[in-house]
Amino acid sequence: MGKWSIQLTLCSSIVLLLLGLSSVHCIDQDPISVEDWFKGMSTMKEKVTKLHFYFHDIVSGTSPTAMRVAQPTTYTSLTGFGNVVMADDVLTSGPEPDSTIVGRAQGIYASASMEDLGFLMTMNFVFSDGDFNGSSLSLLGRNPALHEYREMPIVGGSGVFRMARGIATAKTYSFNLLGDAVVEYNVMVSHY
Ligand SMILES: *[C@@H]1O[C@H](CO)[C@@H](O)[C@H](O)[C@H]1NC(C)=O
Repeated sequence: MGKWSIQLTLCSSIVLLLLGLSSVHCIDQDPISVEDWFKGMSTMKEKVTKLHFYFHDIVSGTSPTAMRVAQPTTYTSLTGFGNVVMADDVLTSGPEPDSTIVGRAQGIYASASMEDLGFLMTMNFVFSDGDFNGSSLSLLGRNPALHEYREMPIVGGSGVFRMARGIATAKTYSFNLLGDAVVEYNVMVSHY
C-alpha cells in the first residue's frame, strides 16, 4: 500500500512535470483540481482578455457548417420566426476563409423575433489555438442581425476562461445571397 502511493506520487509528479513543460497553460480538470482552483480564487487577480476573430457561417454548397434543424409547420413570417439552426462554424484570425483557424463556434441560433430580424444565440466558442487551446467561452444573447453592432453577453467559460463574464460584439463583414456570412467578433472578457 505504502509503496503504491509513493509510486503513484512519483508518477503523478513526473506527469505533472511533463504537462507543465509541454504547456504552462495546462489546467487540470479533475474535480479536486477544480476545487483547489476555487479555493485559490480569492488570491487570484481578475484579468481582462480581448479576442478578435471572424465567424464563418456557411449555409450553402456541399459542405455547409450551419444547417436548419427545425422550422414551424403552420406559420411563415418575413423574419423566419421559429427557424432553428445548428452550427459548427469555423473561427479564423482573418476574414478570408483560408486564414488561420483559431476555433469553432458550436451551438444553436434561432429566429426568436416576429417583428424584426432577431436571433437567439446560444453558442460555445471552442478555441484551438495558442494559449486558449482547449478553453471555451459561452455566449447567450440576442442578435439583431441587421444592426451594425450586435452586443451579446458572454455568460461563462472553461479552461483559462473559468468564471468569465464579458461582452461579444458582432459586426457583419460580408454576406452573399445564398445566406453565407462572415461576421467579425470582438470579445472582451474578464476572468481569473
Ligand atoms: C491544441 O491542443 C491539442 C490537444 O492538446 C493538440 O493536439 C493540438 O496540437 C493543439 N493545437 C495547437 C494549435 O496548439
